Amino acid sequence: MPYRTIIEPFRIHSVQAIKLPDRNQREEALRRSGYNPFGLHSDEVIIDLLTDSGTGAMSSRQWAGMLDGDEAYAGSRSFYRFLEVVQDLTGLAEVIPTHQGRAAERILFTVMVKDGDVVPNNTHFDTTRANVEYQGAEARDLVVAEGHDPSLLHPFKGNMDVEALERTIEEVGRDRVPLVMVTVTNNSGGGQPVSMANLRAVREVCSRYGIPFFLDACRFAENAWFIKLREDGYADRSPREIAREMFSLADGCTLSAKKDGLSNIGGFLAMNDPDVARDCRNLLILTEGFPTYGGLAGYDLEAIAQGLDEVLDEEYLRYRIRSTEYLAEKVARAGLPIVKPAGGHAVYLDAKALLPHIPPHEYPAQALVVELYLDGGVRGAEIGSVMFGKPQPDGTEIPAPMELVRLAVPRRTYTQSHIDYVGEVMIDVAERAKGLQGFRIVEQAPWLRHFTARFEPL
Ligand SMILES: Cc1ncc(COP(=O)(O)O)c(C=O)c1O
Repeated sequence: MPYRTIIEPFRIHSVQAIKLPDRNQREEALRRSGYNPFGLHSDEVIIDLLTDSGTGAMSSRQWAGMLDGDEAYAGSRSFYRFLEVVQDLTGLAEVIPTHQGRAAERILFTVMVKDGDVVPNNTHFDTTRANVEYQGAEARDLVVAEGHDPSLLHPFKGNMDVEALERTIEEVGRDRVPLVMVTVTNNSGGGQPVSMANLRAVREVCSRYGIPFFLDACRFAENAWFIKLREDGYADRSPREIAREMFSLADGCTLSAKKDGLSNIGGFLAMNDPDVARDCRNLLILTEGFPTYGGLAGYDLEAIAQGLDEVLDEEYLRYRIRSTEYLAEKVARAGLPIVKPAGGHAVYLDAKALLPHIPPHEYPAQALVVELYLDGGVRGAEIGSVMFGKPQPDGTEIPAPMELVRLAVPRRTYTQSHIDYVGEVMIDVAERAKGLQGFRIVEQAPWLRHFTARFEPL
């Protein structure tokens, strides 16, 4: 390309209006929602970076595929198209559709994990952690030390600490480790990628101890692109070849198609072990649906099949990763502390560094999330002690390792000027950081409390 600008490799075909409610309306919306962005109506938000999950724009080919969806209860043609695409991509024999990623997690852990087990992961995502803990097991995060330092530059901060993995297996005993998971990219750890060398090393440990190795593969294509850019020997390989190699190292995966499936709903569980798959399918029938639709419509299966193909397009991935990096560069230039390098799907503000006067138990990242909305109608998500803090019986809390605000960019949805606007809002809020105050929780659920908790400003 003779020019430096990396353009959106698509044109806009259909639009939805957005508008900024006035300041009084934003204040009222915050009070009503208990200062929890999950309680806001989307019409009260102008740029919605709460999540990249299911919020992207589908292509005209996905919509066209949906019109052709086969809604047969059993043996739908759309299922067989989906099956072929997933098997071709992952090389995994058994493919079980689910309504989203967490359903795949719940089914897998119900079959494989029991009370007292320990499940290692680089960093468990919130639903993954909750589903492991719901079985009475421990969800142990073993990301490399570099992954805990937001400002440190490292190409693969999502890598698993392989020595710590081996120590964990030795310490708790192989029989209490029913599977090892690696999340690509590492969402709760700043959207950071995992290298092929690291996946290979985890595979080697799992093979040696005879423990199944599963990928939490929601953002497999973004991870493949980072490997192409950053890992020796992969520059000339296509994202599809790299993704196939990643999957070839695993015994199975869970995947939320709401991310790199480029779809608004859906997911799957895939594996090679036919016995585990049979037990999973029996559970699937109980709560999700028959194995050839798994809680999805036939048209959803069409959208996912097409999305899994489109997501590996090089032009798309170049634009995707660059647009996140563009926002990160803009705010880093202005001196804002962020997780570096930029994650694949999101920019993560380091609230601990920006608001050192607010201690973790007063939730600095929540304070920042609230102010971003109040200031510019931008919705982000807290990934800190609200999400991962551990309440203790004496009323205190063990804080999360990091206090982050995640600004997740939906796929193919916002333009460069939307992102410029977000950058301006972030910089404006950061300039007033010293005046921000913390929050206290006044209502919370026993697990996944961040979705429904209510707060009061201190
Ligand atoms: C890494 C990771 N795993 C699992 C999930 C759960 O997927 P879902 O929201 O489709 O249940 C998510 C969702 O954000 C995720 O980011």
